[in-house]
Parts: sequence; C-alpha cells; structure tokens
Amino acid sequence: MELNDTKFHILINFVMSFIGFYLCLNIIPKFKDVFMRADLFGADLSKRVQNKIPEAQGVICGAVFLIIMFLFIPVPFYKHLSDTVSNKFPYNEYIEYIAALLSICCMIFLGFADDVLDLKWRHKLLLPTMASLPLLMVYFANFNSTTIIVPKPFRSLLGFDLDLGILYYIYMGMLAVFCTNAINIYSGINGLESGQSLIIAISVLVFNLLELTGDQREAHVFSIYFMLPYIAVCSALLYYNWYPSEVFVGDTFCYFSGMTFAVVAILGHFSKTMLLFFIPQVVNFVYSTPQLFHLIPCPRHRLPRYDKDIDKIGMSFTKFKYKDLHILAKVFIQVCRKFGLLEVRENVGEDKEYMECNNLTFINLLLKFLGPLHEKTTVIILLAIQGYCSLVAFLIRYQVARLFYN
Ligand code: UD1
Ligand code: MG
Repeated sequence: MELNDTKFHILINFVMSFIGFYLCLNIIPKFKDVFMRADLFGADLSKRVQNKIPEAQGVICGAVFLIIMFLFIPVPFYKHLSDTVSNKFPYNEYIEYIAALLSICCMIFLGFADDVLDLKWRHKLLLPTMASLPLLMVYFANFNSTTIIVPKPFRSLLGFDLDLGILYYIYMGMLAVFCTNAINIYSGINGLESGQSLIIAISVLVFNLLELTGDQREAHVFSIYFMLPYIAVCSALLYYNWYPSEVFVGDTFCYFSGMTFAVVAILGHFSKTMLLFFIPQVVNFVYSTPQLFHLIPCPRHRLPRYDKDIDKIGMSFTKFKYKDLHILAKVFIQVCRKFGLLEVRENVGEDKEYMECNNLTFINLLLKFLGPLHEKTTVIILLAIQGYCSLVAFLIRYQVARLFYN
C-alpha cells in the first residue's frame, strides 16, 4: 500500500472517529434513563449521598466503535473491490479485520452479560479465552510464527531464536485474559477505568505513529485504524465518567478495552511493548494475587473506604484469623510488612483474635503512603502515574531494549 493511500485512509478513519466521539457525547446522557429503567445502575460508594448511577455505559461506546469499524472496513480495500480483473483481493488482511472485530464483539457481548448477570470469577477467566480463539485462529492461518528472538544475554544458552510452538498461543490467549481483567480490577474510583484506558490507547497510538516508517508498517497501520475510534469513544465516556461520575463504565467497557488492546497487540506483533504500557496494571495484578487466588479473603468490593466526615478516601481492609491462613499468605504478609508495603492491624474484633490488612490494590497502597485523599486527587495522581509509566515504557522500548536485542 502506498504511503499516500495510507495517510488518506487514516484521515478518513480520523474523521469517522471524530463523528463517533460526537455521537457518543450525545447518546450517553440520553440513554441514562433507559439504563436506570433496566435496573442497570450502581451506587457511587465514595460519596456522602450514594446516588444511583447508570452502569454498563461501555456498551454504548462498544456499539459506536463497532459501527465506525464496520463502515470503515471497505475503505482500505476499495481499490481491490473495484478491480474485478486481476483477482488480487488481499483476503489475508481482510480476514484479520473480521476476526479482530469478531473477538471484540464477543467480548462486548460477554461483558454486558457480566454486567447484567454478575458472573463468577471463573467465568471472567474463561470468557476472554473463548473470545480470543477467532483471533488465534487467524494468527495461525496468516502467520503461525511462534518463534521469538532470544535476548542477547541468553543467546549462548538458548541460541538466536526459539520456537515456542503451542506455548506462544497459550501466551497470546493469556494476554487477552490479562488485558481484560487487569483493567477491571484496577478500578473503583470515578474516572479510573476510562482514564487509564485512554492513556494506554494514546500511548499505543503514539507508538504506532513512531513505527509507521519501520519495516512493520502494515501492522501498525492496522493498529491505528482500531486505536483512533477507540480513543474517540473512550474520551466521550471519560467525559461523563470523570469525577463526579454521571455514568459508570461497567465491566462491558473493561472487557471491550482489554480485548481491543489484546487484538492490536497480537495482530500487530507488539505484545511485549503493549505489556510495557500496562505497568501499573501489572503491579496492581501482582499485588492482588493473594486475594485473587483467595489465599487472603477477598471481599466483593476492594475499593477504598470513604470517610464522609472529611470527604476523603482511605485504605479499605480485609479481616481474617491469621492462624487460619495458608502458609504462602503468611509469608506474603510478613514480607510485605517488613518492606512497608502492607498496613496490618492486629488483635481486632470482639475476641481480639482477628487481623486486618489493607485490600491488596495499588490504589490502597498509594493511599497508605499519601494518607487519605480526595477521590478526584487520587484519580489525578493515579492517571499521572499511568502517564509517567508510559514514558518509562517508551524509554525501555527504544533505549533499554537495544541492550538486549540488535
Ligand atoms: C472490581 C474489583 C472490586 C472493586 C470493583 C469496583 C477485584 C477483584 N474486583 O470488581 O474490588 O470494588 O471492581 O469497580 O479487584 N463503583 C464506585 N465508583 C466508581 C466505580 C465503581 O462506587 O468510580 C462501584 C459502584 O457501586 C459500581 C461498582 O463499583 O456499581 C462496579 O463494580 P463491578 O464492576 O461490578 O465490580 P467488579 O468488576 O466485579
Ligand atoms: Mg468492574
């Protein structure tokens, strides 16, 4: 594809995305009542008055995103469509779009099911795996490259490259599970889910633009076609989800976002770079593992605790009997405590037999160091950290990676 053609297609995509942004901005408030009537709302837990806020608005964004993409798909292919003589239609490329949208579409549907039905944790792991199958099938049919370049320090041991075979497919499936859930569990304060997703998406877009002149141009153009509409609908959602939230994004949005990132990372061959843009989510996930695997009790909500006297949020706690804990949980608590990464309260409860520690989220960890903060201040700090981590990600991608790869 000519560079000028590509620029023209990106321009069309940009214009369509802008219309999508405007559409979302108009539709979201209009649908508030419809969602309320359908019992799709949640209480805003960190407010003096816990108003009912319409939830699952991510489904509107997802729908607008899909419409933009469906209308856009013919654009990169229109020259081939009018050429009935040479019969050179690029089916390989075309099928990537279809499979990518199929996976995203499945994930929006499953996310909405989660919002309506409140699914269990095991489903939250199974559903993204299933939704990523069409994508992996296309990867198999189009590339089936499961060979990775070994970083320089390990080359004497493993050689220049390594064929991971089926492991590579498992890795890609897990990437989809990670991206979707990592955003969903890094949440609970106004504007965080949509804000973090927007920063990740902008970082990906900047990365794609930087790589446009590189040898993987096609893959990055593909990613831009998805990122522009995504940024458009996400910005409109953030506008209404920002403190004080008028709408909640719901699990639909978290799954839609995670799958969109996984799709462009897998088909664009930049999954490692994508993970670099997820540094805060990785930290939050790793810190959360004892609760996710139920070694330490995990309450339904781990979001910070609101103190209405000072209108600020502080750490929230989980309560248990220390002696009943698994040995791994005990080790985790002692190590984290030693390094000042956990707030522990001993001898609590009526019979003084209980222990409490803060819920294991990055948000609580931040509040441990900075003390109770206003909800808006907290989200601004967390998003600033997200932005800073993206800068670090670029530094690693373009400077540090040179030490490990040619
Ligand atoms: C995940 C987290 C949970 C966290 C919840 C909040 C894990 C394992 N799960 O659960 O700890 O409490 O997200 O998003 O980490 N809400 C607010 N203010 C906000 C956003 C959400 O009060 O800014 C509340 C509302 O009551 C809303 C609810 O959180 O209805 C949404 O929770 P939901 O997305 O259903 O929780 P999970 O994704 O299951
Ligand atoms: Mg959620």
